[in-house]
Amino acid sequence: MRVAAVTGAGRGIGFAIARMLVRQGTAVVVNDVDGRAAHDAARKLTNTVAVVGNVATEAGAKAVVEAAVNEFGGLDVLVANAGFGVVGVEVGDVTAEDWSRVIERNLTSQFYCVRFAVPVMRRRGGGRIVGISSRAWLGQAGGTPYAAAKGGVVSLMRSLALELAPHGITANSVVPGSIATPALEAMDAKAREVLLRAHPMGRFGDPDDVARAVCFLAHPAAERITGQTLYVTGGRNLLLPSRTP
Ligand SMILES: NC(=O)c1ccc[n+]([C@@H]2O[C@H](COP(=O)([O-])OP(=O)(O)OC[C@H]3O[C@@H](n4cnc5c(N)ncnc54)[C@H](O)[C@@H]3O)[C@@H](O)[C@H]2O)c1
Repeated sequence: MRVAAVTGAGRGIGFAIARMLVRQGTAVVVNDVDGRAAHDAARKLTNTVAVVGNVATEAGAKAVVEAAVNEFGGLDVLVANAGFGVVGVEVGDVTAEDWSRVIERNLTSQFYCVRFAVPVMRRRGGGRIVGISSRAWLGQAGGTPYAAAKGGVVSLMRSLALELAPHGITANSVVPGSIATPALEAMDAKAREVLLRAHPMGRFGDPDDVARAVCFLAHPAAERITGQTLYVTGGRNLLLPSRTP
């Protein structure tokens, strides 16, 4: 049986990815820093184990990979999804602490997970790494740390693709546009309305839209697809970055 680990899978996009992987017959390590969310998510799905922890720490990331090995015998798929956005802060008001926190949660967390996952995947003869980026990486006024972190994700995946190709491990980025998740629902109504108008399809995406793209790249048959950046934005990335979030 194939084994996957999905970080930040307690809710939103990560939960949708874990659910779709389980439906496809994959055993899944469900990670979240929110213990209740992680356990609730794992309870709703079969063939999962919950790992509570912050993957922006080495110990948290290591625990995710160790759980895959100890509970299911190895790891085939890593989906580095955990992250969060901060918008509406001009660069002069971004503190050094805010900058570090956003980079750690969105980018360093992916590096830590990859670092522990790769030796396990190499022993298994291959694997799939999918990093969740954001359309913001193309440019986001008021979101410089987040945009920089998500650009780092694209660059990390491209570099991993080159480095790991001889080992049968692919690495790709999935780039969501605005997806209707608790994070988006937490925005105020006016900001959401402005954002909606920036979408050529006139509606936000669904977490399952992102999950389908991830499952495609995570499939064993996707062995020749590596270093790619797959947009799930309903066409929004074709437009110039706006001042909207
Ligand atoms: N929702 C969107 O519109 C959107 C758009 C582009 C990119 N994204 C990206 O997609 C990913 C998921 O977003 P979402 O909207 O589902 O967010 P969400 O806030 O609804 O869910 C994220 C989950 O990750 C967990 N998490 C956060 N940091 C963590 C950490 N360091 N360790 C472990 N768990 C952690 C949270 O507790 C939460 O349960 C994020 O990387 C986000 O940046 C989302």
